[in-house]
Amino acid sequence: MEYIVETNQLTKQFGKEKAVDGVEIRIPKGEIYGFLGPNGAGKTTTIRMLLGLMRPSSGSVHLFGKDLKNNRIAILKRVGSLVENPSYYPHLTAYENLEAIRKIVDVPRARMKEVLKLVRLQDAANKKVKGFSLGMKQRLGIAAALLHQPELLILDEPTNGLDPSGIIEMRKLIKQLPEKYGITVVISSHLLSEVDQMATTVGVISKGKMIFQDSIEAMRRIAQASIHLRVNDPKAVHQALLVYGQKADIKENSVAIQTTADEEVASIVQYLVEQGFAIYRVEEEKRSLENIFLEMTKEEQIR
Ligand SMILES: Nc1ncnc2c1ncn2[C@@H]1O[C@H](COP(=O)(O)OP(=O)(O)OP(=O)(O)O)[C@@H](O)[C@H]1O
Ligand SMILES: [Mg+2]
Repeated sequence: MEYIVETNQLTKQFGKEKAVDGVEIRIPKGEIYGFLGPNGAGKTTTIRMLLGLMRPSSGSVHLFGKDLKNNRIAILKRVGSLVENPSYYPHLTAYENLEAIRKIVDVPRARMKEVLKLVRLQDAANKKVKGFSLGMKQRLGIAAALLHQPELLILDEPTNGLDPSGIIEMRKLIKQLPEKYGITVVISSHLLSEVDQMATTVGVISKGKMIFQDSIEAMRRIAQASIHLRVNDPKAVHQALLVYGQKADIKENSVAIQTTADEEVASIVQYLVEQGFAIYRVEEEKRSLENIFLEMTKEEQIR
């Protein structure tokens, strides 16, 4: 299989610390890759190496199947990026700012209108950037990154500092890129909730190491449900369940069981009722993806 992004044992060492440690990224074409990790995990360092802005201490980066080391300029022509907050000329309009970039990347003027429309800034095109909200500035940054029609777009925390509606806007904007234009997207974040509903593949990095990389569905499957029984006597119910052969945990005024099959739940409830217990509530609790992500990275953070 050919990957748009592939790294092999990618490592970056600062002094004694390995900020990125043997990372193996695999991103097929047309994916939206959510690159997740807590602060200091190594996301920006990895992205800088993907963009040839920083040299790896060891390991390699292949983009479009080619080694970045040997084909830097040709490869980077096919990549658009937004790393950290982009800087603009505040007294110039959005259009004028884009024009400055257009001259460098050398694309037809008509392309500016296209990208402004794509990020829904067409109505603000002639407004000065100094009056722009953070969300508008980020969208302008994406417009600039898309000017030269890249096949790969790499965004480092583009939703940082955006309010919920700004995040939703960004999500809508990014979601359409693979389908409409065949663009593969890498988007980093320290919050899973920000890339959930948008990412098709997820990579989780913690302390420089990739600790999870799979489809978002695979991650959801880990989100196992549990059943909470609110009962009159949790301790006695817990005991009874153990006798019945069902593993259970006491949680405040309820008892939690891991089973999810309807029939099993029904037999357990029937058994408890026959034993004379009063059951007030039978509730299903799903762990959120965010919780799973936190659990994945928690252990690493404590060290
Ligand atoms: N130029 C540098 N020199 C020394 N150490 C660095 C340098 N750049 C990053 N680091 C260290 O590498 C580690 C990873 O940093 P990095 O910026 O890649 O993390 P991040 O995942 O992007 O975090 P954040 O969510 O805060 O942006 C941190 O411990 C950081 O202090
Ligand atoms: Mg960062």
